[in-house]
Amino acid sequence: MLTRRDLMMGSAAFAASAGAGFLATSHKALARDVIAEPIAHGVKSVAFDLAERPTALPCFGGKTLPLWTFESGPTFPIIRMKLGERLDTVFKNHLPREGEVASIHWHGLRIPNTQDGVPYLTQQPIAPGGEGRYSFVPPDTGSFFFHTHCNSTEHFGRGLIGALIIEGDEITPSDGEYVLLMKDWRLGPGGAFLPFSTDEGAAKGGTPGTIRSVNGATSPVITVPSSANIRIRFYNLDPMRISEIGFEDAQAAIIAIDGNGLPPMTFESWRLGTAMRVDILLRTAPPGESVKLYDYYSKEPVVLAEFKSEGPPKRTDAFEPLPLKVMPFPKLDEANAQIIPFEFSATPTGQAIADIGAGPGIELGPLCLAKRTFWAINKRSWPQDHRDLGPPLAVLKSGQSYIFELDNTTPRSHPIHIHGHTFEVLNSSKRKLPRFRCDTVLLIPNERIQVGVVAGLPGKWMFHCHILEHQEAGMMGYIEVV
Ligand code: C2O
Ligand code: CU
Repeated sequence: MLTRRDLMMGSAAFAASAGAGFLATSHKALARDVIAEPIAHGVKSVAFDLAERPTALPCFGGKTLPLWTFESGPTFPIIRMKLGERLDTVFKNHLPREGEVASIHWHGLRIPNTQDGVPYLTQQPIAPGGEGRYSFVPPDTGSFFFHTHCNSTEHFGRGLIGALIIEGDEITPSDGEYVLLMKDWRLGPGGAFLPFSTDEGAAKGGTPGTIRSVNGATSPVITVPSSANIRIRFYNLDPMRISEIGFEDAQAAIIAIDGNGLPPMTFESWRLGTAMRVDILLRTAPPGESVKLYDYYSKEPVVLAEFKSEGPPKRTDAFEPLPLKVMPFPKLDEANAQIIPFEFSATPTGQAIADIGAGPGIELGPLCLAKRTFWAINKRSWPQDHRDLGPPLAVLKSGQSYIFELDNTTPRSHPIHIHGHTFEVLNSSKRKLPRFRCDTVLLIPNERIQVGVVAGLPGKWMFHCHILEHQEAGMMGYIEVV
């Protein structure tokens, strides 16, 4: 059994997983089950109206807060589509502040650069009162999400997030599927929002929320079929939190990371930075009993959600998770890949503020630019002037293989995200990691990780830390694919 200390050390869970029996048998299945064709061809039309909506989520304990959301509803929008369908989105910007521009970024999707939703880099942002459109066919199955890409610390903090699920990866359907969106809220004692950013937070691990939630509720109890295999799509959509999730006592396997199927790994625990997702197959408890999902990455383990079994048992067979079907990704040519180093560091200002604290937090001026920077990639801090973005951090040739050497020279963790691509995690200087694909990879303090990248569609692709205050305070740049 893992102790909390093992979990904090970060490697025990992976070591345990790598030795587990599921791996060997599943490899074959994985190689066989590549998704050859789309499973549908329709069009899914979505109309969003970005606006302030006073909302009383269960986790607010009776208070109503001025959330900013994509549409009205009890929690966050979840768009479900089948692989091959086109998504047509029109959105109106009715955010209630002068100059509050918006665009929608589709996190994790390898779609054309013009649809990527990054203000100034891939499109002009939409001013209040304006209307924007996106149209694309998501090329991959998986658990994705969407969010705006300017003033994101506040936007996430006010709830402006949604999930996008592309179906078509299951060999046999599970007995039920549950989407869990984890995020904290930053409320003061009076129940109003606190400032979303602080200097101290921005220069350290991010400014933490005060109330935790999953799907807008505190430790929700979710009714599930008994002794069944259910699929859980777990999202960390907090602006800064790092979590390490695990069940107290249950048979479960990780079947996908950031939407990418992998040979099922025994699920002991998994560490997620903000924006990271994991798909889990869980054998639920017998009738009347329940299984709890914990976050171990905190002083005391926190119950994120409880799965309570109801009804007659569905299964009596042994728990043998099937792998998901995978997309036919271009193969990394590791032998001939060019190695590109990226150093993630603090700036002298960031270092000074981490030492003394205090201050108003990250303030964004017009054009989504922070006034001061605390973080850098290869010694350069975003923003430069958006009207003159400066050179890319690297130029890649479409179709060619690269190895990014991601070197964290800070005492903080950084979930590093690339737009329009997936990383293939190759190795870490500090931990034993399985080989897997992801669009956001967590660098723990002073860790170096190598990831493979096959350059995808041409364009300018953002590359940044997904701790939103780090991103806004300089740990952001772009890669150009030609
Ligand atoms: Cu979630 Cu630049 O992205
Ligand atoms: Cu960071």
